[in-house]
Amino acid sequence: MSKKMQEQTVAEQNREALFRTMRTAFLTAYPKIFTDVRYASDIFFQSVKLAAEYGFSFQTSLFVADMAVEIETRHKALSAAVAAWTDKETLVIELAAGLSPRRAEFAGVNYVEFDHETIVEIKKTIYQKMGFADYASGLYAVDFMDKEAFAKIMQTLGVHNYKRVVVVSEGLFWYLKRSHVQGMVDVLSSALQGVEWLWITADCPTHAEISEAEYRNVIANSSNCSPVEPFADFNDFADFFTQNGFALSAHRLREFVSPDCIYAGKFFSVSAEEVGGRMADYTDIALLKK
Ligand SMILES: C[S@@+](CC[C@H](N)C(=O)[O-])C[C@H]1O[C@@H](n2cnc3c(N)ncnc32)[C@H](O)[C@@H]1O
Repeated sequence: MSKKMQEQTVAEQNREALFRTMRTAFLTAYPKIFTDVRYASDIFFQSVKLAAEYGFSFQTSLFVADMAVEIETRHKALSAAVAAWTDKETLVIELAAGLSPRRAEFAGVNYVEFDHETIVEIKKTIYQKMGFADYASGLYAVDFMDKEAFAKIMQTLGVHNYKRVVVVSEGLFWYLKRSHVQGMVDVLSSALQGVEWLWITADCPTHAEISEAEYRNVIANSSNCSPVEPFADFNDFADFFTQNGFALSAHRLREFVSPDCIYAGKFFSVSAEEVGGRMADYTDIALLKK
């Protein structure tokens, strides 16, 4: 194979890998249509109308309605945690926001969102169609594997003008290598030096052995990533952030949301007891403070 053909093959493989990662934004938006999360259905159905235009296609089996209980719980618990730390003088920075409706739920809050360029373009179009042009201007395209690019955007946000910065992420770490999470930690720590800030992430492994958990395999199959990257278990996760100078506290989803409030549980006839068990197995929320 000629050098040019080899380069074309590598470029094609990289493009496919990028699309596999980005399409998880749609796959995570889908289960939320079975929930009472505000704006979730509007955003998902708008995204369906745009997906193919932007080069996305899917096997139907990738859309897993059965994840609705876990995804709704994670979304609501994280939103409750963010709300507890947010007021009019706070800037919320949502990393890998994908097609999440959280920004729209936090109307009136200073809020910016980051994701890959194509997802950002799609979400801007969706916001415009929904009459939320203001939210479109808070969307930033970045690849978190590109430390310099992330650092450059962080410098433009005027973070020192706020009383507090709340960084928030869910469903992100699985798509990154540890070195990339390290890069993000370095960028955030440097850009937010001198500011009161914390990182609230819903990607904190539960204490239990989770590497064989079914949901991890769903993610691994849909995006071609390893179910144990970048953190194999809670201790691994905690050691990493502690070594990076964070004080960490892990919280069960149940501390923020009750199983009775999970609409998908009612819709799919899942008892509150089973919802409670599934939310306990799924993930924890970590508060990471510098
Ligand atoms: C599983 S989705 C979660 C989306 C959203 N947080 C939610 O819970 O609905 C993962 C998101 O991470 C984004 N993502 C993954 N790796 C990324 C990277 N290196 N740079 C920017 N965004 C990334 C994907 O594009 C996708 O939108």
